[in-house]
Amino acid sequence: MKIPDELINCRAETAIVLGSGLGCFAENLPQTFSVDYGAIDGLPVSGVPGHAGRFVVASLAGQPLLIAQGRVHLYEGWSAQDVVKNISLMHAIGIRKILLTNAAGTLNSSYLPGSWMMLSDHINLLGASPLSGGPNFVDMSHIYSIRLRGIFLQIAKQAGIPLHEGVYAAMHGPQFETPAEIRMLKAIGSDAVGMSTVPEAIQAHALGMEVAGFSCLTNWAAGLSPTPLSHEDVHAVGQDAAGQMIELLLKALPKI
Ligand code: HPA
Repeated sequence: MKIPDELINCRAETAIVLGSGLGCFAENLPQTFSVDYGAIDGLPVSGVPGHAGRFVVASLAGQPLLIAQGRVHLYEGWSAQDVVKNISLMHAIGIRKILLTNAAGTLNSSYLPGSWMMLSDHINLLGASPLSGGPNFVDMSHIYSIRLRGIFLQIAKQAGIPLHEGVYAAMHGPQFETPAEIRMLKAIGSDAVGMSTVPEAIQAHALGMEVAGFSCLTNWAAGLSPTPLSHEDVHAVGQDAAGQMIELLLKALPKI
């Protein structure tokens, strides 16, 4: 994989991966460089609306920040190994702290659509792992960094930004879940459901990176509201909620 020199030399230690509808985050920051995933040999490109597919080097609170605008998913037909190529690239250029964002349905009656949930843990129901073929038996007891979670919780509290914590269940998709699947997910301890993030978190943790995960809760999960689910609604709620995440990151990044 030939990585552009501007990325290799970007000096960022922290990266954020933006999920559905959150791409606008990058547009609000001064940018120094951007490159489309398609221009980097070997990096998969998403065809899903709302996933721009580029790396942006931006400046936030005086520090370089690498933004991965969009990701690829298992449900598009990519393998778990393909889905984490962005993570290996970011690790290779010196990223050591990674913030993964996604859009998700909420299963927790106290976590309203339009709010954010930080991942305390996940349940991998994708039927795949990026680590297949090795390394084996990597410990996942603390996949989401306790240190980063503590910083984000403290800053959210000080800033008056609501930030829930909970368990994210990863489903393969591309279809939304059935109400019966949502009842099962609730019974096994999930607070939110989505179709991404978990392979990236596993890969980043296995590479020794500090990981934090954030779900923008865009809708009630299937069967919990009379409204049918649509990708367009998910996208619109994500865009509205991006402002809160920008505020949180502006305050948190200098401290992480
Ligand atoms: N289910 C799965 N993925 C999602 C959802 C959902 O309800 N909302 C946003 N991404």
